[in-house]
Amino acid sequence: MLNIDKIRKDFPILKTKSNNNPLIFFDNGASSQKPQIVLDKISEIYKTKYANIHRGIYNLSQQATEAYEESRKKIQKFINAKSEKEIIFVRGATEGINLVAQSYGLKNFKKGDEIILTVLEHHSNIVPWQLLRDKLKIKINVTPIDKDGNIDLIKFKKLFTKKTKLVSVLHVSNALGTILPIKEIIDISHKNKVPVLVDGCQSVPHMKVNVDKLDADFYCFSGHKIYGPTGIGVLYCKNKYLEKMDPYQGGGEMISTVTFNKTTYQDAPHKYEAGTPNIVGSIALGSAIDYVTKINIDKICKHEENLLHYATEKISSINEVKIIGTSKKKAGILSFIVKNTHPNDIGVILDNQGIAVRTGHHCCQPLMNFFKIPATIRASFAVYNTKEEINSFYEALKNAIKLLR
Ligand code: ALA
Repeated sequence: MLNIDKIRKDFPILKTKSNNNPLIFFDNGASSQKPQIVLDKISEIYKTKYANIHRGIYNLSQQATEAYEESRKKIQKFINAKSEKEIIFVRGATEGINLVAQSYGLKNFKKGDEIILTVLEHHSNIVPWQLLRDKLKIKINVTPIDKDGNIDLIKFKKLFTKKTKLVSVLHVSNALGTILPIKEIIDISHKNKVPVLVDGCQSVPHMKVNVDKLDADFYCFSGHKIYGPTGIGVLYCKNKYLEKMDPYQGGGEMISTVTFNKTTYQDAPHKYEAGTPNIVGSIALGSAIDYVTKINIDKICKHEENLLHYATEKISSINEVKIIGTSKKKAGILSFIVKNTHPNDIGVILDNQGIAVRTGHHCCQPLMNFFKIPATIRASFAVYNTKEEINSFYEALKNAIKLLR
């Protein structure tokens, strides 16, 4: 069992008030709060170890470089990649997906080729492919879902053709919480000789992810959702694809030699990290990984699972509530609508009581269209959330419904 009272003390923001009420932060799907260890690391680097990396022969630059590369190794270990070369620092999952589209897709796909997505995808796993589709004239096939928010594996299998070049799917739905059968998706794709990109934004902070065991080809996540800073994320890229991709951006850092006639590139991962990277963000993400590792990701997963079950039971006992996303396999995300009210009105009333939830389409408009709704109210949990907070949420929600009736 985790000592949640102790864990809560690690997060300074949880001591603050919001609208004169104790803050209840249930918008962890959008971004999670930061523990002191991460805040301290950011300040420590800027105060004592800050310089540009990979450039200076002086001590300070070498220390910063070491810390940056050390963080890469921590991430490699955390997701069980075979080599640290396979860990590319990016701005976030969105940039990771765009990198695969532009560096891998643009180089390896041609007119008429196909890729497979699902109805569940976040816009960040739709729009980059549409940009590529418009450039290359490729086709996007979409795996359907059922009314619970599960993908249909039989229909998924039928989408493969000789022209399928990539499957790109999320691991956990940010809007519904559905945990996809990602190992089966990868195995089916590999049987069809098709590589898989996984958007792990809502999985890596909440469950053990082993990219080697999954045999994922590309796997990305954002640092700010796993208690790290904004502006930093990770793209894991299996070794065999590292040399099959063009650079994402050109500039300093990623080159080996430059003349006006020809440029040669560094080896991966540096080939894909042009310009001065988010040095402090990368190092602080390493501290966030240390923090999660110390608590234990399996225990975090269990705690959030308990919160989800508790919240689902309580919230669904309210007559006016309809849960959206009723898969048996869900991570700590509870999405719902309230009869005859707009989610935003509920959100504003909850906010008045210090409760932060996300209301809207969650960057998943095709998914909202599938359910024929404009938006949901979403509570998404993290390690520092408690059953007491869910009790307050339940009472506040009942009052909000009464008020709007
Ligand atoms: N993808 C983030 C969310 O689900 C922003 O809220």
